[in-house]
Amino acid sequence: MDKLNIVGGTPLNGTIYISGAKNAVLPIMCAALLTDKEVVLRNVPKLLDVRSLISLLEHLGATCEFRAGLLRIKTTAIKATTAPYELVRKMRASVLVMGPLVARAGVAHVSMPGGCAIGTRPIDIHLDGLKAMGAEVTLDEGYVTVKAPSGLSGCEYTLPFPSVGGTENLLMAAVFAKGQVVLKNVAHEPEIVNLAEMLNAMGAKIVGAGTDTITIRGVSNLGGCTHSILPDRIETGTYAVAALMTNGKLTLRNTSLSLIQGLTQPLKKAGAIMEEHNGGFSIWRDGPIQPVDVVTEPYPGLATDLQAQFMALMTLAAGTSIIRESIYENRYMHVPELVRMGANIKVQGETAVVRGVPALKGAPVMATDLRASVSLVLAGLAAEGTTTVNRVYHLDRGYEHIEDKLNRCGAHVSRSNGSD
Ligand code: UD1
Repeated sequence: MDKLNIVGGTPLNGTIYISGAKNAVLPIMCAALLTDKEVVLRNVPKLLDVRSLISLLEHLGATCEFRAGLLRIKTTAIKATTAPYELVRKMRASVLVMGPLVARAGVAHVSMPGGCAIGTRPIDIHLDGLKAMGAEVTLDEGYVTVKAPSGLSGCEYTLPFPSVGGTENLLMAAVFAKGQVVLKNVAHEPEIVNLAEMLNAMGAKIVGAGTDTITIRGVSNLGGCTHSILPDRIETGTYAVAALMTNGKLTLRNTSLSLIQGLTQPLKKAGAIMEEHNGGFSIWRDGPIQPVDVVTEPYPGLATDLQAQFMALMTLAAGTSIIRESIYENRYMHVPELVRMGANIKVQGETAVVRGVPALKGAPVMATDLRASVSLVLAGLAAEGTTTVNRVYHLDRGYEHIEDKLNRCGAHVSRSNGSD
C-alpha cells in the first residue's frame, strides 16, 4: 500500500488550484441514472471515489467516459438494480444510487452501508423518506430493497436531522413523483444546491435548495444536461490550514471564502489574514497561531470534514482550545496519531482539549479515514523531521494530486510503496 513521506518545516508559498468537490460530484453522478440522455459533467476531480462510482454506474447500465476533468455518462437503460456489498463497503456514497434507481426503475437493492471508521452512520432517514413517498422497504441478508413499481407519490416529510445524503437521495427519488413532495428540515450544504441545479437543468421542478424546505413537483421524464461541479470547500479549507500551519502564504484559486464561511471566523481568530480576489483568495498569518474554541455543525457551521484539519492547526496554537464534534460520535481517530507527533490532546466524549505545543515532531503515522489522514499530512508539513503517512488510499479517495499541489508550493512530499 502506498505511503507518503513528508519532510516538514518548509513554509508553503504559491498557488493551489482547487478541484471540483468530491461530495458534489458523487450525488450528481448518481443523478445521471435518472435519464437515458447524455449527462456531461465539467470540473470533475480525478479521485478514487469517482473511479469507484463509475464502476458502480457501469454495473447498473451506464456508459461512462472520463477524460481531463470531463465526465460523460449515458444510461440508455438500467441493466441492474443492485448496488453490491463490495462497492458500497468501499464507498458509503454508493447508497445514493438508491433514489435514482427507485425513481427510474421502480426498485433498488442496496447493500446496507453498515458502520464505518467515523461512526455507525445509519440510513434510516433515507428509508423513512422513501416510505413517506409510498415505497415499500424490506431488509434481507444485509441488503435493503426499496420498491415502488407504480412510482412514488407526493407527500410531506420532515427529516429528523438534516442529513446530507438523506436529502440528496430523497431529492433524486422525488423527481418523478406523482404530485408534489415537500421535504422539510433538509440539509443546506452547497453540494445540495449544486445537485438541485443539475436536476433542474435536466428538467426537474425543484425549488428551495439551500433553505430548510425543498419542494419537488414531479415531472414525467428528464433530459440530458451539461453541468459544472462546484469547487471543493473541504479541500479549500484544508489548504487554507496548510498555509497557516507552515507559516507560508497560499493563493487558492477556483474557490471562494463564502464556500468556507463556517471556517473563516475560526481562521481569523487563529490569526489568519485573508484577501479575497477574483476567483479565489490568499491566506497567511503575521503572528503566532491563536487558540480558538469550535463546534462542528451542519452547514453553514464549521464542517465536520474540517474538524481534524482545524485540530492539527490548534496543536500549534499559543494556548488551549476546545473542539467539540457534534455530527459524528467517533471522529477523533487522528488524535492518538497527532499525539505521537508531540501534540497535547485529551478527548472526553465529544470534546477534545488541545493544548498548543511549540513544535510537532515527524513520526510514522496511520489514519483510518480521509480527513484524519489529511490532518496528519498537515501536521507532517509543519513538523520537524520526517513523517510517513501510511494508507494513502484514504487521501486518494478525496484529494486530487495532493503531493503535486503541495510540492509546487515548496513542500517535500514523496510517495512510496510499502506495507503498513
Ligand atoms: C456527507 C458527506 C460527509 C460529511 C457528512 C456530514 C458525502 C459523500 N459525504 O455524508 O463527507 O462528513 O455529509 O457533513 O457528501 N444519520 C442518521 N440517519 C441517516 C443519515 C444520517 O442518523 O439516515 C446521521 C449520521 O450517522 C451522522 C449524521 O447523521 O451522524 C450526518 O450524516 P449525513 O449528513 O447523512 O452524512 P453523509 O451524507 O453520510
